Amino acid sequence: MAASARIESLIARMTVEEKVGQLGVFADMVRPFAPDVNPEANVRNADEVLAQVRAGRVGSLFNGVGAELGRRIQQVAVEESRLGIPVALAADVIHGMRTVFPIPLGEAASFEPALAERTARATAVEATAAGLHWTYAPAVDIARDQRWGRGAEGAGEDVVLGCAFAAARVRGFQGDDLTAHDALLATPKHFAAYGAVAAGMEYASVDIAPQTLRDVHLPPFQAAFAAGAISVMSAFNDINGVPASANRGLLTGILREEWGFDGVVISDYTADMELVAHGYAEDDRDATKKAFLAGLDLSMQSGFYAAHLPALVESGEVPMAALDEGVRRMLVLKERIGLLDDPYRSLDPEREADTGHLADHEALARDAARRSIVLLKNDDAVLPLKKREQRIALVGPFARDRENIEGCWTLFGDRSRYEPLEDGVRAALGEAAASLVVVPGCDLEAPVEGGIEAAVAAARDADVVVLALGEPQRYSGEAQSRIDIGLPPAQEALAEAVAATGTPVVVVLRNGRALALTGAVRDAQAILVTWYLGTRTGSAVADVLFGDYNPSARLPVSFPQATGQQPYFYNHPRTGRPELPTMSEFKARWREIPNEPLYPFGYGLSYTRFEYDAPRLGTTRLGWDDTLEIVTTVRNVGDVDGEEVVQLYIHDRVASRVRPVRELKAFEKVAIAAGGEVEVRFALHRDALAFTDADGVRRAEPGLFDLWVCANAKSGEPVSFELLASGVSAAP
Ligand code: BGC
Repeated sequence: MAASARIESLIARMTVEEKVGQLGVFADMVRPFAPDVNPEANVRNADEVLAQVRAGRVGSLFNGVGAELGRRIQQVAVEESRLGIPVALAADVIHGMRTVFPIPLGEAASFEPALAERTARATAVEATAAGLHWTYAPAVDIARDQRWGRGAEGAGEDVVLGCAFAAARVRGFQGDDLTAHDALLATPKHFAAYGAVAAGMEYASVDIAPQTLRDVHLPPFQAAFAAGAISVMSAFNDINGVPASANRGLLTGILREEWGFDGVVISDYTADMELVAHGYAEDDRDATKKAFLAGLDLSMQSGFYAAHLPALVESGEVPMAALDEGVRRMLVLKERIGLLDDPYRSLDPEREADTGHLADHEALARDAARRSIVLLKNDDAVLPLKKREQRIALVGPFARDRENIEGCWTLFGDRSRYEPLEDGVRAALGEAAASLVVVPGCDLEAPVEGGIEAAVAAARDADVVVLALGEPQRYSGEAQSRIDIGLPPAQEALAEAVAATGTPVVVVLRNGRALALTGAVRDAQAILVTWYLGTRTGSAVADVLFGDYNPSARLPVSFPQATGQQPYFYNHPRTGRPELPTMSEFKARWREIPNEPLYPFGYGLSYTRFEYDAPRLGTTRLGWDDTLEIVTTVRNVGDVDGEEVVQLYIHDRVASRVRPVRELKAFEKVAIAAGGEVEVRFALHRDALAFTDADGVRRAEPGLFDLWVCANAKSGEPVSFELLASGVSAAP
C-alpha cells in the first residue's frame, strides 16, 4: 500500500520496537471508566501506560474516557516520545454514549436505517466530546440462534436488514469527514461468522458451508466497508477449524485480496493469545506469528506482539516488510482520521463540558425508543389504554427497575437520566396518575414474600394490568448464552396468578433476544416487545401504551414456539419432505409443536390496519441485464394514521443449490394517513437474485422466481416472474 511521504519517513526512522508499539492496543488505565470489564487482563496502571506511550510502545488505548486526561496521553505521545506519533483513543460505544439509545437489535426493529444513522451520529457527537476517536462498533453479526447472547448487539437474523443497518451505523458514526472533530471511526465486528457458533454457545466453533459464510455472514461487512469503514475487528471463534483471528483465508484472502480492503484489522480482546487455548498455536510466540502472518494487524491487550514480534522479525520468520505494512496501515488510519495533523482533535474540555446538545439527543432517544417497540398482539383492542376512566395496575419486576434500562453493552451511559417505566406512565397520566397502582410482584429471578398476593389484589381492583416482564439485561451480551430462552420461572408464576384474576393483561417485555413465550404471557390480551430502550424507556413505552405513538416496529428475529426450535430463521432452505396440511408423518416437523414460529420475522401490529394490493410487475420476463420494477398499493383501512413496513421477499423455484423458502430483498417504511393509500415502488436487479454456487461464484441463475410484497415473512400471496438467460430477448 502506498502511504504519504511523512508516513514513509516515520517508518524509515522507527526501531522494530517502535513499529511493534504501533500495533499494540491496551486498556486505557490513564482514564479508566470500566476497570471491571475483563479485569484479569487489565494489569497495567496509569503510570505504566504513560511510560509505554512515552517509549513509543502503544498505538492505541481503549475504554477510557475524558478530554482532559486524553490531552495528557497525547501530550506524552507527541512531546515526550521519540517520534511523536499520537495515540488513537478507542472505546466500545455501541448504542449511545451518555444518552443511551435502544440496543442495536431493538433499533433494527424500527426497520429504519436512517434512524440508526441519526442515533449513531448523536453517539459520535457525545463520544468525541468525551475524548474518543474510535468506536468498536457496529456489531454486524447475523444471529440465527437466539440462544446466543450477542444477537442483542446486531441487527437480527436477516442479511438484507443487517446490511442496511451496518451501513447506516457506519455512516452515522463517521459522518461525512473522518477528520472532523466529531467523527467517530467505526469498526464493524466480529469478522466473521461469530453469530454462527454451534448451539448458540459463546466462543464455540463455527462449522459452516463456504456458501453460507459468503451469502449470510460476510455481506454486512462488505456493506460497512462500502459505507466507509476502514477498520474491522476479528472474531474469537474458529471457522471450519481455523480461528478467525489467525485465518489467512479470511483476513488476507477474502478481505484484502478479494475485496481490496486497505484498512486495519484489530484483534478482539486477547484473541491472538487464545490461539494457544484453541490448540492452533504451540505457544505464545507461535500464536503471535500465526496471527500476524494471517493478517491480524493490531493485537489487543495480550501484549503478544510486543513480546514476540521483534524476535520473529529478527529470525526472519516475520519479514520486516510485513511488519512495515502493518505499521503503515495503522499510521495511514491515524492520518485518515486527522490525528497526524491534529493530535488533539476531539480532546477539547470545553466541548466536553458543553452539554447543550443533550436536549436534542433526549428527544431523539425517545423517538428511537418508541420506533423500536413491536406490538405482537392486541386482542379486543385492549391497547391503546385510556388516560382517564381506566384503573391501571402496573405490575412486575421491571415496573420500577432502573438497573435494566441500558441493555447489555453500555459503558458510559448517564444513569442519572434513565427513566423507568413507572415514571413514563405517571407522566403520561398526569393527574390521573394518582390512581395508578404499582406492584413489583416478584424480583427479576425470584419470588418475593407476599408479592403475588399484592399483585393479584392490584389486578382485581384494576380495569387493566400492564405486566412488565422480561430478561435481566445481563442475560444477553457477551458470554451470555442461554439454554432456555423463556422468562425466569418466578415471572411466569406472577403472570399466571395475575392472568387468573380475569383482568385484561398487557405484557410489556424487556428482552435482548427473541423469547419463547409460554402460558399466561403468551396468552395475554396484548404483548409489546420493548428490548432495552435506553435513556427514555419510560416515556417511549408510555407513548405506545397510550397511543401517543402508533407502534411501527417489526421483528428483526423470529419469535419461536419453543427454545428447541433454535436455530430458527425464516429464510431456512427448503426440505425434500415439507409438512403438508393433509399429512405430517415422515415429514420435516416437530412432534410437539408446529414448525412455524409463534411470530415470524418482519411481524408487528399497528393500532390501524393495512391492506395490500397484489404487486404489479413491470414485466414477468426479466432480461438478464434489466431491472424489475415492482409497484404495490398499500392502504390504511383503519381509523388512525400509521406506519407500515412494506417488505419484499423472493423465492428461487429451482436452482443448483437448495434455496431458502423466502428471502427478504427490500423493505420500506411508509407513513399512511387513516383512510389513505400509498404506492410503494421497488426495483430489483439480478444481483439481488444471486447466491454463491458450488464453485464459490456469486451469480443468479435464470428461471422462475416467486415474489411477495407483504407485511411479514409468512404473509402475502406470491406473484411470479422469470429471469431470462443472458442473450435471451425479453420480448414475449
Ligand atoms: C468483545 C468486543 C469488544 C472488546 C473490547 C471483547 O470482549 O468481544 O466486542 O470490542 O472486548 O472491549
